[in-house]
Amino acid sequence: MDWNTQYRDRIRKSGGGDYLSQVGHTEQGRPISNEQFIELFNQITDLLTLAPGDTLLDLCCGNGVFTQKLAKRCQTAVGADLSEDLINIAQTDHAAPNLTYYACDARHIDTLPLPAEPKFSKVLMYAALQHFGRNDLRGLLQSLWPVTETGTVFLFGFIPDADLAHQFYDTPERRAERQRRIEEGTDPIGEWWKRDTVKQCAEEAGLTCTFAEVPPGHHAARYRFHAIMQR
Ligand SMILES: C[S@@+](CC[C@H](N)C(=O)[O-])C[C@H]1O[C@@H](n2cnc3c(N)ncnc32)[C@H](O)[C@@H]1O
Repeated sequence: MDWNTQYRDRIRKSGGGDYLSQVGHTEQGRPISNEQFIELFNQITDLLTLAPGDTLLDLCCGNGVFTQKLAKRCQTAVGADLSEDLINIAQTDHAAPNLTYYACDARHIDTLPLPAEPKFSKVLMYAALQHFGRNDLRGLLQSLWPVTETGTVFLFGFIPDADLAHQFYDTPERRAERQRRIEEGTDPIGEWWKRDTVKQCAEEAGLTCTFAEVPPGHHAARYRFHAIMQR
């Protein structure tokens, strides 16, 4: 799937300031409300136990709509995303003095000039694991080993749940549309994950793994979950 082109298309369709639509935080084609955005943000900081002394790596940070706010809650932050278009928006509209953005494929994160010290105490990948397969996740966790340390918390948030896909594709029309878009190469979601698979990848990498739920009022609570890993 060509995610770069898909996100370029979203930017084009969403218009200048609609940061949430640019990165797919929408419900029935409209951006989620500010209250829902804040609720997700607060849950991210809670699950990461983000603290002022933390060093944060936000993988697949998109246009930085969460990253900039997270950077205000920690010591330093790095955001990386495949899409140069989204990184340009992040650098222009969601900058912060303690925040550096890079355009980079997360599968090649080891090519970035990330500091050897201090290690990242928190790693976030929010609403993006669907763009990766099992071997990508394995490789990613391995590449992150040199830049993380004992105690580092990893939050893979907002993962589409393979066991709940039927609650998203809940009508014959939606299932047909999914099939059509997969064949056309424009499937907007990508990989649906089983919790066991995520846990297995974490444990193979020497991390513990627990799960949390999307806030119940959010439409995606029916079909997404969060995985919290710790080194
Ligand atoms: C749904 S958006 C989420 C963005 C951000 N984390 C948020 O929640 O606002 C998914 C992001 O993953 C990025 N992405 C997809 N494949 C990637 C890859 N291989 N490496 C880095 N970023 C990738 C996309 O460019 C996009 O910005």
